[in-house]
Amino acid sequence: MDVKVADNCGFCFGVRRAIELAESTLRAGEEAYCLGPLIHNPQVIERLIQRGFRVVGDPEQIPDGAKVVIRSHGVRPEVMDELRARDIDVVDATCPLVKRVQDRARELAREGYRVVIVGERHHPEVDAILGIAGPESVVVDGEVPDDLLRVRKVGVIAQTTQEGAALREVVHRLAEGMPDELRAFNTICSATVERQRSAVELAGQVDVMFVLGGRNSANTARLAEICAGIGVPTYHLETAAELDPTMVAGKRRAGVTAGASTPDWIVKELVSALSV
Ligand code: F3S
Repeated sequence: MDVKVADNCGFCFGVRRAIELAESTLRAGEEAYCLGPLIHNPQVIERLIQRGFRVVGDPEQIPDGAKVVIRSHGVRPEVMDELRARDIDVVDATCPLVKRVQDRARELAREGYRVVIVGERHHPEVDAILGIAGPESVVVDGEVPDDLLRVRKVGVIAQTTQEGAALREVVHRLAEGMPDELRAFNTICSATVERQRSAVELAGQVDVMFVLGGRNSANTARLAEICAGIGVPTYHLETAAELDPTMVAGKRRAGVTAGASTPDWIVKELVSALSV
């Protein structure tokens, strides 16, 4: 089997930074909590848990005065306020590019725009942005609701891991309503764009594509959708252990890419399993 790995894949700088912050907190001998998984990769999280990291679902589960690492996706402002009010030591690992989207949301809401977020309603990054943009803001995940076409002042931003085409479609649709003002910011992060571009390039050269990453990872799921969308058989795996011989039967060239929260060791394991 001829195996090729995408030029751009795996850890992005935001994920690397979040892990480094978590690791340096643990190295200092501190017990560290995180609200929800730090990044969307269960294997990396498991390794951190073995070193003393505690992933909890609710701020109530964090004792007063403890140390908490904020996940790369960010949290709602009221959560941050609660943690600080309880004297909890906050290590903020929110990705700076996610922060940039949060800043845009805050600015648009302050200037009276109805904030439209192109993204997945239940994704933690989008939830945190919603908390900043306020109750009037709307998440668009697919079709633009007709009532948005009647809003006169609209500001559009996107979840960092969206596909450019999704943002473009929403902006075009909103423009059909002829609002008085329509401002749109391309807040899709460059790591996402590069990984999507490399995946498309590679998928066009192989007989089968493997996309590695957590099942809960939005950017990995998007990479798999994009590869499948260009017609190549595509499998989204978390690790090489999920590789099944039927996936490669009759295939000569395999492509491998990985989401932004997938570590190198997971990529290497799959490449060696495919190369046997
Ligand atoms: Fe940040 Fe983009 Fe990675 S938003 S966490 S650099 S995918």
